[in-house]
Amino acid sequence: MTIHIGANPGEIAETVLMPGDPMRAKWAAETFLTDPVCVNRVRGMLGYTGTWNGHRVTIHGSGMGMPSLSIYANELIRDFGAKTLIRIGSTGGMQDHIRLRDIVLAMTASSLSTPSKGLFGDLNFAPCADYGLLAAAERSARARGIVPHVGGIYSTDSFYDERPDLTAQMTRHGVLAVEMEAAELYTVAARHGARALAVLTVSDHLSSGAALTSDDRERSFTDMVEIALSAAFA
Ligand code: ADE
Repeated sequence: MTIHIGANPGEIAETVLMPGDPMRAKWAAETFLTDPVCVNRVRGMLGYTGTWNGHRVTIHGSGMGMPSLSIYANELIRDFGAKTLIRIGSTGGMQDHIRLRDIVLAMTASSLSTPSKGLFGDLNFAPCADYGLLAAAERSARARGIVPHVGGIYSTDSFYDERPDLTAQMTRHGVLAVEMEAAELYTVAARHGARALAVLTVSDHLSSGAALTSDDRERSFTDMVEIALSAAFA
């Protein structure tokens, strides 16, 4: 048991999927896992452990934004022994060739700041995904008939970002999409020798303003969970 996770020792699996929304964690656990058991409900941040194809898996919410994710990723890895953490979530497309519902595998995650920034002094640390997980997720997506975008994303602290110049520079430099958690997940995982990846679905687009309906979000969430689970155990 930790400050933010009420699970008993041994109740968290080595493989953890992390959606932002705790209700998505509940839905994914009940949909994809065999015999899911709720192992955390502290502050409403739900976590479930069950099995998938015989493998133990925990699906645990991260909350929105890097400070929230950082708390759970630190405790899951340091206190509960998690070794593989895969974020499953939504992202805003930034390049014109990216369409709603597309899957983005985040190879790197740029940021203005993360909760870990203070550790690095003058260094601009480059948070990156675990290559084995990334390659396995790409294979898994393609096996499902999905061609994912693989490349750099941006993890922002501000959903309502009012810095069009920064967005323009990132778009010019090939950044695929924006979300709010991956850079810190990759940094915390690197610090503690864990593997991490973000598998993301494009839920909106920054230049067109287009956005998915909630039905579409649910359907695309299914693809992300399946890609993440098969990548974790490839
Ligand atoms: N997650 C999904 N869409 C997003 C956006 N436009 N900005 C930040 N995070 C997001």
